[in-house]
Amino acid sequence: MNVRLCTRLKDLRSDQFTRAVMFYHSCVMVYKSVFVLILSLCTCHSQLLADRLFPNLAASTREITNTLTNHSLFKFLTKTAGDVFADTVYSITRIPVAVVRAIGSIEVPSIINVRNNVDMDRILAEYASGLANEDATLSVDKLIVKYGHPVEKHEVITEDGYVLTMFRIPGNGSVVFLMHGLLGSADDYVIAGPESSLACLLANDGYDVWLGNARGNKHSRRHISLAPSEALFWDFSWHEIGNYDLPAMIDYTLNTTDKKSLQYIGHSQGTTSFFVMGSQRPEYNAKIDLMIALSPVSYMSHQRSPPVRLMAPGTSIIDTTLKSFGVYEILPDSQIFRILRRLMCGVGPLSQVLCSNALLLTVGFGFSELNVTNLPVIYGHVPSGASVKQLAHFGQEILSGEFRQYDYGPKENKRKYGSVTPPNYPVEKISAPVSLFYSNDDWMSHPEDVDKLYKRLVNCIDIYKIPHEQFNHLDFIWAKNFKSIIFKRVKKLLKAFT
Ligand SMILES: *[C@@H]1O[C@H](CO)[C@@H](O)[C@H](O)[C@H]1NC(C)=O
Ligand SMILES: *[C@@H]1O[C@H](CO)[C@@H](O)[C@H](O)[C@H]1NC(C)=O
Ligand SMILES: *[C@@H]1O[C@H](CO)[C@@H](O)[C@H](O)[C@H]1NC(C)=O
Ligand SMILES: *[C@@H]1O[C@H](CO)[C@@H](O)[C@H](O)[C@H]1NC(C)=O
Repeated sequence: MNVRLCTRLKDLRSDQFTRAVMFYHSCVMVYKSVFVLILSLCTCHSQLLADRLFPNLAASTREITNTLTNHSLFKFLTKTAGDVFADTVYSITRIPVAVVRAIGSIEVPSIINVRNNVDMDRILAEYASGLANEDATLSVDKLIVKYGHPVEKHEVITEDGYVLTMFRIPGNGSVVFLMHGLLGSADDYVIAGPESSLACLLANDGYDVWLGNARGNKHSRRHISLAPSEALFWDFSWHEIGNYDLPAMIDYTLNTTDKKSLQYIGHSQGTTSFFVMGSQRPEYNAKIDLMIALSPVSYMSHQRSPPVRLMAPGTSIIDTTLKSFGVYEILPDSQIFRILRRLMCGVGPLSQVLCSNALLLTVGFGFSELNVTNLPVIYGHVPSGASVKQLAHFGQEILSGEFRQYDYGPKENKRKYGSVTPPNYPVEKISAPVSLFYSNDDWMSHPEDVDKLYKRLVNCIDIYKIPHEQFNHLDFIWAKNFKSIIFKRVKKLLKAFT
């Protein structure tokens, strides 16, 4: 068209030429304005509606839209995965209400809200006063020594080749094995300090304390033939942690201490992986005198964590894509976490301080039991690394309402399990005595889901609901009043079941 226009202009006299150019320009202007107008009418309709209905969410949603539509992951999916994905992306990117729907039928929980109202200046001052704490940079074995205990480091290789590190605080008493949760490590049981951490409190009482580390966390990033840079290294969920890691660590511990059985305390995923072991490898129940579940996670229909819920829709698709891209580890600095931070915490210094950590954002927190002075130490030790498949497997349990093995999609399930849906974990085979600690405000472990587990366990010897509002997922290990709220009861149970 430009070529034709130029040819015609050549034939025109100069005044005609000027007029023609002006006409051409005005045409283009009109055309451009109409185009822009049409474009904005089409694209802005839903956004304007969104702005009016959800003013607070609008900014975050625009950011989500831009990121997700431009994300290599999602672009790739658009080309290959057809209707299911189109549906998911549409619902994620169009309007805020759809974002909320993708995350779950319940509202996106806000971390800093009216109910959780706090004195901002006090919080910031407490946080600032903890910044110089050297414990933030000391490794866990150095912390244990600093807190006045001897420490040993042990290594064990699993059946499928992962090299796991365990820490031990040797003692004359019976053996207690501690297992951490999602994105956690042995550090979780030490960083609350000499007066409040479970490992130190048990050591003070003379117990022989063993601290496990699941494959993929910072202490267990080795394999006899795979490297963490390879996708295959990250091809595991908590199913493998329960099936291979726990049996290997427990056998090693019993062999080294020359004992027949031990007591097990797990937090969060440390309970999930135990329930996997107890049902898939029931012979291990005889090696457990007592299992204490701090915030038990198995059935997850009522789970409230936004990052986990976000993995629920289209989980199998996300997994397939991650495999193609070779991205298998949860990266806490990802865009998704940044966006969720805006959505759940808003902006400002308080949000920067409290919501900058992927773990806190994933499992939530409350202010009543949070030791803000200790936050810099916590941030120095978590998150500790995990595979995307761990999160995706949790996401699947939200949708299915079952406690079952990883869902690879009907075709692959048929090949792997011999059935279209993955098999449920036979929870009734867990014959070891189990004690459950849970609370109302825990995002990862909802009372109704705990009740479902309780009804299926054949040997649940104690179930205890923490009598405090706002007691949340991390308070089960880091509460300011851990000693009186949790440890007192733990101690009684351990004594009763040796
Ligand atoms: C989309 O991605 C491209 C290439 O990575 C980048 O240059 C561009 O700024 C991105 N756009 C948005 C809206 O994020
Ligand atoms: C274990 O017992 C021995 C002797 O019975 C004692 O010397 C030692 O201090 C005890 N160690 C601990 C950690 O209690
Ligand atoms: C048990 O420990 C002994 C040494 O204390 C070691 O020789 C043996 O290989 C261990 N067995 C297992 C199964 O770890
Ligand atoms: C809170 O954390 C600080 C800094 O680590 C520590 O000194 C203090 O003892 C902790 N408070 C409680 C109740 O554990």
